[in-house]
Amino acid sequence: MSRKIIAVDGPAASGKGTLARRLAAHFDYAYLDTGALYRAVALCVLRQGQDPADTKAAVAAAQNLDMAKLDEPDFAAALRTAQTGLAASIVAAEPDVRAAILLAQRQFGETPPDGKQGAILDGRDIGTIVCPDADAKLFITARAQVRAERRWKELVAQDDSLSLAHVLADIEARDARDAGRATAPMKQAEDAHLLDTSDLSIEGAFAAALALVTG
Ligand code: C5P
Repeated sequence: MSRKIIAVDGPAASGKGTLARRLAAHFDYAYLDTGALYRAVALCVLRQGQDPADTKAAVAAAQNLDMAKLDEPDFAAALRTAQTGLAASIVAAEPDVRAAILLAQRQFGETPPDGKQGAILDGRDIGTIVCPDADAKLFITARAQVRAERRWKELVAQDDSLSLAHVLADIEARDARDAGRATAPMKQAEDAHLLDTSDLSIEGAFAAALALVTG
């Protein structure tokens, strides 16, 4: 039986990660958060005291990325900060950074770990570039204000000085960079189903996503 691939794309805090994880659990497929790879590259650059906009540093970090680091609790926690997210969108605009981690993403889809019969990848360019032949594609979105409120609720637990306006500005800057870059911009694939989660609960969004995937 051939392996199934589900591509889930969308902007920051659209709910795509939660939905992709839920779908993976439902189908017992492997799950890859590709944003974490870009965040990891950015964090390595930041921890070396270098600038994410320094192309050489970003490409070297991508080429030397040790995936095992993603499982280290301290590293994994630092991946989730707003600063790392913003730095990730800077390194992600560099074509050689994207090229360095493209193969690993495709291999995950083609040969999912642990003998799983399918894989779900979430990101910005899964349906368009990484897995254009995916069996099902979703593009998850939500209004920027709603996405900012969701992200702010997560982040304020670690930093109570963070304002909603600041998070909204960060999200809008990241959307603009992700959608405007020349290489693999964030874009809905022509054959992707669009799902707006602005007015949906997590359960409602999951039911809608499942219905779209199972067609
Ligand atoms: O999804 P997440 O917010 O963790 O992604 C962090 C950043 O990584 C995004 O803003 C985007 O710039 C980049 N990214 C990407 N392509 C992907 C996944 C993430 O460019 N497939």
